[in-house]
Amino acid sequence: MTMVHIDSATAKAKFLKEAFTLKHSLAGHPLFTLPRLVELAKSLPRDRIEYNSGKVAVDVKPEDVPRIDKSPEDVIRSIEVDNAWMVLKRVESHPAYRSVLESFVREANLAAGRQPGDFEDIQGFIFVSSANATTPFHIDAEENILIQLHGDKFVRTFDNGDRALVPEEEMELSPSKHRNMPYEDWYESRATLHALKPGDALHMPYMIPHWVATGNSYSISMAMTWKTPEVVRLNKIRTMNGTLRRFGMPQRPPGVSPARDAAKVILHDALRTVIEPLRKSERVRTFLRAAIYGKQANYYLSAKPEQGA
Ligand SMILES: [Fe+2]
Repeated sequence: MTMVHIDSATAKAKFLKEAFTLKHSLAGHPLFTLPRLVELAKSLPRDRIEYNSGKVAVDVKPEDVPRIDKSPEDVIRSIEVDNAWMVLKRVESHPAYRSVLESFVREANLAAGRQPGDFEDIQGFIFVSSANATTPFHIDAEENILIQLHGDKFVRTFDNGDRALVPEEEMELSPSKHRNMPYEDWYESRATLHALKPGDALHMPYMIPHWVATGNSYSISMAMTWKTPEVVRLNKIRTMNGTLRRFGMPQRPPGVSPARDAAKVILHDALRTVIEPLRKSERVRTFLRAAIYGKQANYYLSAKPEQGA
């Protein structure tokens, strides 16, 4: 089955560099109905589900995002009448979703002229949002093709080549950081608007700034994500930079000192070897996030805002 329809000239010029739209054939697939997504939500660990009100401004401060006091399953069941925003994370843990995701990412990369070793760490995120819901301004630390499955989605992407919109410090990786980033009205002059309908898809390269609004009915979409070897390397450096900043040692951006970058990658891998086996348990994951990055690193686990969080 061909899932990805991508213009080869566009892909050659823009893949992994600039946002561009393409087509997919997964709209109407049985894995993406609301009842199937309720079942998926029930099967995921609670820390792989994040949701809040969809009635937020593009520049909302993380601490001002209104929470919803309902179970994840009930949020999906009432998505047509509520105003909610939800993401089901790491859905590749479910075999059926993993199979579709891996085939899609492979197909897209090969169609764009990439080789099998060029994509790894394939992860899927399904977004279920009510009508007129907003995903505030943010960046994601992976390569992504967002596929639209139900309803309309309006995605604004921004060029960040000069770091005027998102400084390097905001690109450092740390679980204590909320995804939402500061946004100013003038950014809009740098936006490119992509209007997505079911069957449309949007390639968003690594850390391209964006914000998203749904149309007049509920929306289902999925981020098909992967990492290139270079993205894996950059993320290790940015994770170490974010962690060292938390302990009072701010660092230079990747690329300034190749020797320091290499040392950070080695240190990252050594720490990961120790921590990774412990992260299999949700309780230990929650404990580790709080111990290393502070209590706010678990912000999305509480249905209601915590005092001072
Ligand atoms: Fe995103």
